[in-house]
Amino acid sequence: METTPPLLVLLLHGLLGLSMALSVHGKVGENTNLTRESFPPGFVFGTASSAYQVEGNANKYGRGPCIWDTFLMHPGTTPDNATANVTVDEYHRYMDDVDNMVRVGFDAYRFSISWSRIFPREILKSLQISASKRTAQQKGKIGILLDFVWYEALTDSIEDGFAAHRARMFTLGWFLHPITYGHYPETMEKIVQGRLPNFTFEQSEMVKGSADYIGINHYTTYYASHYINDTEKSYRNDWNVKLSYSRNGVPIGKKAYSDWLYVVPWGIYKAVMWTKEKFNNPVIIIGENGVDQPGNETLPGALYDTFRIDYFEKYLHELKCALNDGANVIGYFAWSLLDTFEWRLGFTSKFGLVYVDRQTFTRYPKDSARWFRKVIKKED
Ligand SMILES: *[C@@H]1O[C@H](CO)[C@@H](O)[C@H](O)[C@H]1NC(C)=O
Ligand SMILES: *[C@@H]1O[C@H](CO)[C@@H](O)[C@H](O)[C@H]1NC(C)=O
Ligand SMILES: *[C@@H]1O[C@H](CO)[C@@H](O)[C@H](O)[C@H]1NC(C)=O
Ligand SMILES: *[C@@H]1O[C@H](CO)[C@@H](O)[C@H](O)[C@H]1NC(C)=O
Ligand SMILES: *[C@@H]1O[C@H](CO)[C@@H](O)[C@H](O)[C@H]1NC(C)=O
Ligand SMILES: *[C@@H]1O[C@H](CO)[C@@H](O)[C@H](O)[C@H]1NC(C)=O
Repeated sequence: METTPPLLVLLLHGLLGLSMALSVHGKVGENTNLTRESFPPGFVFGTASSAYQVEGNANKYGRGPCIWDTFLMHPGTTPDNATANVTVDEYHRYMDDVDNMVRVGFDAYRFSISWSRIFPREILKSLQISASKRTAQQKGKIGILLDFVWYEALTDSIEDGFAAHRARMFTLGWFLHPITYGHYPETMEKIVQGRLPNFTFEQSEMVKGSADYIGINHYTTYYASHYINDTEKSYRNDWNVKLSYSRNGVPIGKKAYSDWLYVVPWGIYKAVMWTKEKFNNPVIIIGENGVDQPGNETLPGALYDTFRIDYFEKYLHELKCALNDGANVIGYFAWSLLDTFEWRLGFTSKFGLVYVDRQTFTRYPKDSARWFRKVIKKED
């Protein structure tokens, strides 16, 4: 899960693999029919990461402190008292990592660089201004990256149907509705009323149609039901929604290591199709998708991540169904290449396709990396 804003994509075409071999282990990938050809020509497969989670070298090479450095100085912030001072040391080992991506067959790497490294302290502001002017002069594509949990109505009732709709509109719709139509979703306007600022005509015109593509980070799905909590007014209480993770005692999906992550492959299909239908069929990129295992798993057991292969296979299958049904999805980024620093979970959760030894920082591809290779490697 990423929470750092600046976004860069490195295209890997033409880069040569240099260091680590992906030897074949077992028979992963045999139970799948997915191939690169299952997706349209030019469809981009990549992995995603964020600066803070992988870079390391918190206070070296011109990086000033960021709020997370300060936050993590309080013991107990993460279960393992981890800091991101070194994390996976990608700052020094990026060639190994690029190499692994190329070997797996990924086309792109979605990463970020710490604002506090690019722009130390006071000069941040003036540089931001000149950077945004420069971007405007270039003919790049500009998109927005948004988290989107799919909310499924708990029951067939009209109330729960509306509740699920509100949950979607209060999350993805909060941003995409203005970008598409120039104002907040009607359901938000109706509920929030005077506490929701209105766009001026100029603001509305400026924001409407301002994204060339929509990035969606999607991991999981919850049930939503109608529920009014009027103890106090808050963003969350405005939804008038209660979330749950099971229906009649049946869990919505298998729980991953993280408490918030249930494996619900059909959720990505519904999330993408709803986005297509409600927001004028935008160009969509799946910016993050992945699943975690406990951080205390060690070598070699941690490499046999069959559950992760199963997750990717099923989610990609559902994504392909959405493409078949007309969704304009042009790329998919798995979270994440490496087992990285997972914010409040420290290193107690692993999302990587590649295991990182915490002592030596040596990278060991997991079975899921080999599975991806089998699916997306171009034969040449
Ligand atoms: C894979 O392909 C075979 C043969 O075309 C087909 O019988 C099978 O149902 C497919 N499996 C999946 C999971 O789509
Ligand atoms: C984290 O630090 C706190 C305070 O020093 C300590 O009580 C706790 O046992 C530490 N936890 C771990 C997992 O080391
Ligand atoms: C991490 O770096 C900060 C300074 O950015 C320092 O205060 C802290 O002691 C370091 N923690 C460890 C465990 O090295
Ligand atoms: C926005 O406009 C609506 C309708 O004109 C009005 O009811 C609402 O109070 C306005 N909101 C604010 C924050 O001014
Ligand atoms: C109701 O809202 C209050 C205040 O935001 C919150 O503390 C409480 O957990 C909510 N109750 C439920 C059942 O969601
Ligand atoms: C890892 O942690 C889980 C709790 O999250 C515990 O149940 C399990 O026994 C631990 N495994 C090892 C190998 O320490």
